[in-house]
Amino acid sequence: MAIKTQRANRNNAPIPSGTERVKVLLTHAKIQKRIREMAKLIRKDFPNEPLLLVGVLKGAVLFLADLARQITGEVTFDFIAVSSYGKDSRSSGQVKLNKDLDSSIEGKTVIVVEDILDTGLTLRYLLRILQQRKPKNLRVAVLLDKVERRLTDVTADYVGFAIPNEFVVGYGLDYAERYRNLPDVRILSLPGGNH
Ligand code: IMP
Ligand code: MG
Repeated sequence: MAIKTQRANRNNAPIPSGTERVKVLLTHAKIQKRIREMAKLIRKDFPNEPLLLVGVLKGAVLFLADLARQITGEVTFDFIAVSSYGKDSRSSGQVKLNKDLDSSIEGKTVIVVEDILDTGLTLRYLLRILQQRKPKNLRVAVLLDKVERRLTDVTADYVGFAIPNEFVVGYGLDYAERYRNLPDVRILSLPGGNH
């Protein structure tokens, strides 16, 4: 079924027509406040270490950009891209590496930066391959955590917000590549149910 394309409005006013609706869950201000706290926690855990932020493309780009600016001291970043495949694209558990890091992480303090922890299968895969490369420390920062959906015992060291089991978009998160540019996180509803 084709989904009508429309521009999402920025002020949470109802979208007058069309098939998709969004409702603000986390405002931009609330996200920024939490990111400042997360940045402090990360730096407190590693007061004197250069930190390498590894962003998971594409969803984590906005989060990484804001987080990096709030962490004091030496910070570098690199990016990795993965995709899930199989029947249910979001929870098949089969993960493919689409773009590897540019540089070695051996001996480095690495913080994996992810948009959302859902089933945990993507992160489990990523941690497995990154651990093999012998970083000095390997930690995970996620903006959102859908605790209810977890299928593995993977956990994040730094969590922005635990959220309910709803499909969310904005602030990097997409639905069919759209909505990533919204400044806040919104719940997306499609007529006839989500997904
Ligand atoms: P996991 O492997 O099930 O933990 O899924 C992680 C990936 O699924 C995330 O990096 C997102 O790309 C995507 N994802 C999971 N839940 C949502 C959502 O509510 N909105 C948008 N993308 C999501
Ligand atoms: Mg993602």
